[in-house]
Amino acid sequence: MEVILADYLGFCYGVKRAIKIARENASADGTACTLGPIIHNPQMVDRLRREGVGSVDRLEEMEKGTVIIRSHGVGPAVYDEAKARGLEVVDATCPHVKKAQLSAKELVDEGYSVVIIGEKEHPEVKSIFEWSSGKAQIIETEDEAEAVEPCGKLGIVCQTTFSGARFRQIVMRLLEKSRDIRILRTICTATDQRQAAAIDLASKVDLMLVIGGKNSANTTRLAQLCSEKCLTYHIETAAELQDEWFDKIKKIGITAGASTPDWIIKEVYKKCQNR
Ligand code: F3S
Repeated sequence: MEVILADYLGFCYGVKRAIKIARENASADGTACTLGPIIHNPQMVDRLRREGVGSVDRLEEMEKGTVIIRSHGVGPAVYDEAKARGLEVVDATCPHVKKAQLSAKELVDEGYSVVIIGEKEHPEVKSIFEWSSGKAQIIETEDEAEAVEPCGKLGIVCQTTFSGARFRQIVMRLLEKSRDIRILRTICTATDQRQAAAIDLASKVDLMLVIGGKNSANTTRLAQLCSEKCLTYHIETAAELQDEWFDKIKKIGITAGASTPDWIIKEVYKKCQNR
């Protein structure tokens, strides 16, 4: 059986950076915590907890210590609240997300009506929205773009992990909404690279294994794209592999979401090779 890894897979730059920052701020007394899980991967969150980086859902849960802002970022009010509570703030927001947040703020400050193209419930999109002082409109479909009111000045920013192709389609619908449009294509290449590499591999193998948290939007998207090309299973760890999946399979492709640790990818790879 041949096992092939996608050309681009696993941790992206922003996630690697956030985990490094979290580890540098670990504390033996449990007072260093990320606000929300640092990444959408339960195994990594557990490992960090053992290393001295906890996770809280709300700042109220922390009486002292260091709050680590995860790569998805947060709105400005969270920084203010953390400081007001006497917490030290360590910012591990991905620089690409930071750029989208500050772009939204700048556009609002310059009098643009702002549209954020992205998933309404995604924490990163919520944070970009908060940096727009709650003034931006969030859309994620062409129909929603059609419904945007025409305006004098229109500024567009995008969720960093949004599909480049869908972004273009939606922007096309927005072009007629204003004569003064600023488009900030705040998409990060990590997502496009992983998606293109996954689709390419999925069209050459009999079975794709997509590794990553079941709650990870980018991993779920990879699994969906691969399933359009070949038989695909979305797994979190090697323990989920089942013998019957591999009947008559000659080539297996492996990819992983941007929040999937290397050690999990290696375990799955080895287990497939040893079949
Ligand atoms: Fe940053 Fe792109 Fe990763 S925005 S967190 S490098 S997917």
